[in-house]
Amino acid sequence: MSNSSTPSDTCLADDLSLGRKNRSRPRVKAAMHRSIARFLSEKELVFGLLDGFGSPLNVIFPENISETIERFKTVYKQRQLQGRIFYTSKPNKSLALKKQASCYDVGLDVSSHGELVKALSAGFHPSRIEATGPKNLDYLVLGAQQDILINVDNMTELQKLVELKSMLPSDRKIRILVRLDGFDGGPVKFTPQDSAFAIPCKEAPAVIEFLERHQESLDFYGFSFHFNAGDYIRRPGAIETCLELSFECMNRGLKPRALDIGGGYRIRYADDQDEWNSFVEELKSSVLGDRDSLSWNESGLGFRKEDGVLKGAPNFMEHYHANDGHEDFASVIDTPLHKFDGYSAARILSESLMELYIEPGRALLDQCGITLSRVNFTKSSILGEQLVSLDMNRTNLNSTQLKLMTDPEIVFRSDERQACEKGVMYVGNLCLTHDMIQYHKTFPDLLPQPGDAVAFINTAAYQMDFAETNVLEQRVAEKIAVVEDLNGRLRWFQDINYNPIALKLGN
Ligand SMILES: Cc1ncc(COP(=O)(O)O)c(C=O)c1O
Repeated sequence: MSNSSTPSDTCLADDLSLGRKNRSRPRVKAAMHRSIARFLSEKELVFGLLDGFGSPLNVIFPENISETIERFKTVYKQRQLQGRIFYTSKPNKSLALKKQASCYDVGLDVSSHGELVKALSAGFHPSRIEATGPKNLDYLVLGAQQDILINVDNMTELQKLVELKSMLPSDRKIRILVRLDGFDGGPVKFTPQDSAFAIPCKEAPAVIEFLERHQESLDFYGFSFHFNAGDYIRRPGAIETCLELSFECMNRGLKPRALDIGGGYRIRYADDQDEWNSFVEELKSSVLGDRDSLSWNESGLGFRKEDGVLKGAPNFMEHYHANDGHEDFASVIDTPLHKFDGYSAARILSESLMELYIEPGRALLDQCGITLSRVNFTKSSILGEQLVSLDMNRTNLNSTQLKLMTDPEIVFRSDERQACEKGVMYVGNLCLTHDMIQYHKTFPDLLPQPGDAVAFINTAAYQMDFAETNVLEQRVAEKIAVVEDLNGRLRWFQDINYNPIALKLGN
């Protein structure tokens, strides 16, 4: 772990007295669960695993998903809501995390045939699985055969399911949800966003007629929608429309019993709000030329200077939120709905005896994983930036698509490290230009050296294995699950060998 010397303080004073540009060293400490901090403090274990399984290495903390599931369940309990949390498995391939979740009263939301097969093998009974996403025939057939709740994306899927029903040996109907989008915002004005997913709301009348005609084949559970993290403005209107359509379906003799409001709840990546805000301010001043650059090739990370003025918007997520994911969720279902006399979705659902389904992915994976890499070497870039080259690449962190802005933790193999005078940029092992692990500079106290370990925190959601490839025959990371045993010692398992029930049985 980095120590706390501050070699920059004197440099900063010198720079200011000489009237040079501001060279302060902004930090963004990652929010870190105590289990992760403890693991990183056990140096022998960290280096033993890296030596044994190679770099990069993803370390999963399956027990942390249990804590978050409990928090989401409390939101249901406090509002006396019935329904189901479907853990969206798409952001991470770990089997350990699915097995851990399967020990709780939650379902699993899968989005491909392969994920469905994995869900069944992780211990989820078909009655607990929901199938979302665009579906090929293999996915539809297996879903229908296994009595999975199929969240229909389009009319072709609906028609195929009716055809399929006649080929199934049993009498049971195929259980479906229907995903909608293109909601009218009512008094709230927003720029409509196009989407490849869902059936447009204006086609809802045709859908309802179809459902009426095929009641013998399809058991209609209700409507659903999903918006991405941060997209809160569109949710109240979407909830209102789905509720109105559900009540209309009931009047017409259909039996919708649930509303599915999808996922999209956020994670707090940064530990401290002031630190995060001042990092963003420093980045902006660097773009305006008021300090040395903080981004690779002065890209500005979405900001730019035009006619002396700052323009643009960050191309990275907001890393600090006052609310955790379950609080985000609570605020969505507690929002007053103007079409329902200011009653909240929570109240309307519980009074109508309808169930609430949600599909959190990212939020349930908060603090569930880190990505470790060995340092290969350090050097200066052509323009004089301090580079730290890692034995991992951008696909191992999905860094082209998702920028992780928190400072990685460094585990030093030895104490003999020199003060790090400048900010460093982490680059990867691909023989390609711009294999950036992070596109911005961070400021460790000590300069890492070959063999040291660098740990990126909170990478389980969409980062560690979402876009990972063995490009240029570089490796994809192994996954290791780490848990505390009954005696308080850390135990590790290869991801596929982790079994929380066997552990509880004392194995
Ligand atoms: C249909 C659906 N549900 C749930 C999710 C999970 O979203 P998040 O990880 O933002 O909670 C996604 C993610 O893309 C999705 O497409």
